[in-house]
Amino acid sequence: MSHENENENEIKVWDPVVRVFHWTLVVAFFTAYIITEDDFLWLHTWAGYLILALLVVRIIWGFIGTRYARFSSFVTRPAESLRYLWATITGHARRYLGHNPAGAAMIIALLVLLALDTLSGIVLYAVDQGSGPLAGWIVQSERLEEPLEEIHDVLANLTLALVIVHTIGVFLGSITHRENLLVSMFHGYKRRADEGA
Ligand code: HEM
Repeated sequence: MSHENENENEIKVWDPVVRVFHWTLVVAFFTAYIITEDDFLWLHTWAGYLILALLVVRIIWGFIGTRYARFSSFVTRPAESLRYLWATITGHARRYLGHNPAGAAMIIALLVLLALDTLSGIVLYAVDQGSGPLAGWIVQSERLEEPLEEIHDVLANLTLALVIVHTIGVFLGSITHRENLLVSMFHGYKRRADEGA
């Protein structure tokens, strides 16, 4: 599988920032999700900081990055995303080179939930352990610890639920358009537009 250059059949869609962002995010998310024991809290919190840093970079890249990385190239109205979902169910979904309208809605939801989850983690870390960047700004409180932990857990589980739907969407999109979207997220290339994509 050689992907050194674009050719008449393939076009570079995902730049290195998007690809490194994606797979680092996957590793960081599952690390933080799985490792929650007190003995390894340092690993959990560092995975969380990494997620936050990745989000900041990706959001900036969404404004200044390459064509398909830009929010302006894929963010659309919710009605458009719903229409696309319906088109997928009824087998009429057209192919997009970048993110399709349903994928776009999922990406926004994932970015927002990940941001809320990491931020709630930082607040919890200060309230519960008196540690982290907000320690000294927020007082430690036993009363607040439990509800905050609950919020942090619910957000993480919601994110996991979205990740599951996201991977199902990637799988369905790959089948519908007979292309391997997962592999494209590694090497960055996709089959050139046919069907007016
Ligand atoms: C583990 C299995 C996963 C697979 C196979 C997978 C696959 C993909 C693929 C193929 C795309 C591009 C979709 C397209 O063609 O429009 C994508 C985008 C994306 N995925 Fe995943 N993903 C996985 C897990 C995750 C996880 C765990 C997260 C977040 C915690 C995530 C967040 C995202 C985001 C934010 C994008 C948009 C990328 C960008 O534009 O920068 N994914 N994923």
